[in-house]
Amino acid sequence: MPEVYIHNGPLIIGAGLAGLSVALNAAPQPTLVLAPVELGAACSSAWAQGGIAAALSPQDSPEAHAQDTLIAGAGINDLAATHALTGMGPDVVRRLNAIGAPFDHHADGSFVLNREAAHGLARVARVGGDLAGKKILEAVVVAAKAAPHIDIWEGAVATGLIRSDAQTVIGAVVERGGRPIEVFAPVVVLASGGSGGLFAVTTNPANLRGEGMAMAALAGAEIADPEFVQFHPTAINIGADPAPLATEALRGEGATLITKDGYRFAFDDHPDGELAPRDIVARAVHRANTTLGGAFLDCREAIGEHFPQEFPTVFASCMAAGIDPRTTPIPVAPAAHYHMGGIRTDIDGQTSLTNLFAVGECASTGVHGANRLASNSLLEAAAFGERVGRKVAEVAARTTFAPDTAQAQRPLTPPRLTPQALKTLRTAMQAHAAVIRDETGLKTLLETLTGLEAAFKGALPLVAARLIAQCALQRRESRGSHYRQDYPETAAEGQRTFIRLTEGGLIQ
Ligand code: SIN
Repeated sequence: MPEVYIHNGPLIIGAGLAGLSVALNAAPQPTLVLAPVELGAACSSAWAQGGIAAALSPQDSPEAHAQDTLIAGAGINDLAATHALTGMGPDVVRRLNAIGAPFDHHADGSFVLNREAAHGLARVARVGGDLAGKKILEAVVVAAKAAPHIDIWEGAVATGLIRSDAQTVIGAVVERGGRPIEVFAPVVVLASGGSGGLFAVTTNPANLRGEGMAMAALAGAEIADPEFVQFHPTAINIGADPAPLATEALRGEGATLITKDGYRFAFDDHPDGELAPRDIVARAVHRANTTLGGAFLDCREAIGEHFPQEFPTVFASCMAAGIDPRTTPIPVAPAAHYHMGGIRTDIDGQTSLTNLFAVGECASTGVHGANRLASNSLLEAAAFGERVGRKVAEVAARTTFAPDTAQAQRPLTPPRLTPQALKTLRTAMQAHAAVIRDETGLKTLLETLTGLEAAFKGALPLVAARLIAQCALQRRESRGSHYRQDYPETAAEGQRTFIRLTEGGLIQ
């Protein structure tokens, strides 16, 4: 029999910027955070480079930030979520600065702001050049470790949600040190990150394969927009897994995209060239790689000798691969980077199930629409993390928690994919559900998934992959990150996807 642990406060599954922001804001409720590895390691937040978007300059406004977010999102953003996010932006950055995130400042004390693609002006607050995610997370980790109301279990991974009935979540099954523990809690928050590891080429830590979305779906929660997966246009193309990122801030500083022969191809797709919305640049880079002999990010003129100081992370990745970006264009390719879809929530993180909340990349408030605006993800994690933290503290405070553990509905133990099955899955997702999709490819992918499900039914990555593939097949248009070469037009009226999983497949 697994050990049973009853926790009388919020249980947070995931310890990136979103999860820890929830935890800090859930004070004074006793809050338990599960971190799959050592706190601060192997989470996407720590790997974010460019910075955090917020209307901090006198020329900017939350309204202008919202407009850029809506344009990038291609017509299906949730308006309330978008305005809530951009409205909180400046204060969130100031609060992160106040707890010790060492943002770059000018001599007059103002924030150093980068320009990134699809932003109308320089709006991305940066930290240590390209160390934004790492440094922000370090500050938040210090604050979380010092907070008396927070307990942290490192090396603890949730494998399924426990319910009291079809509608109410009361805990999670957790693997810690190789042992299953049933953790019961009055409110559960999924902050488990994205799904990039489902694809063969990704900038995400390899352990992120849509597990949070899959656990929620298996428990009966509604899922939103799973087909929208963003590919970053400029991962460094050196065959590494995960692929190191070459931040969009490089293009913001004037780096250009060229072919081997020096042809600047991004203007063929959009008048803003390298600074067009991310999905458009990703497809241009894909095309250059597949039909023009290669795509390269040329930083020689725009950044040159400043590279090591301005972009230390990218510089180190390039040099480790034998590429000196001061003198040599960097080979680049699109890589799965961010999941706009996920567990459907409102802007306080409430899912369709009672006492289950979700936040950050595993959630889908609709704030990013079909294509996230660059550097809105750290902002989302911190801003909505604050909101969700306050909300779950309220829920925990008004709940007298006395779970009937004997009657609890426990999840099935999900099988683990073998390395070979995982490789098959990632290869098929990359081939058929990446930057360019079509019906034939998506049907082939679904057949591959069916084959894998015969041996690994209920494996969390397979559940997540099926949600993405099936909804990609059902969306017969192109919009934002979802590009169907057999349906290249965008429908006049944009609609989000809302879906639940059933034993027999998917229903809408
Ligand atoms: C980047 O720095 O290019 C990534 C930031 C983001 O994904 O928003």
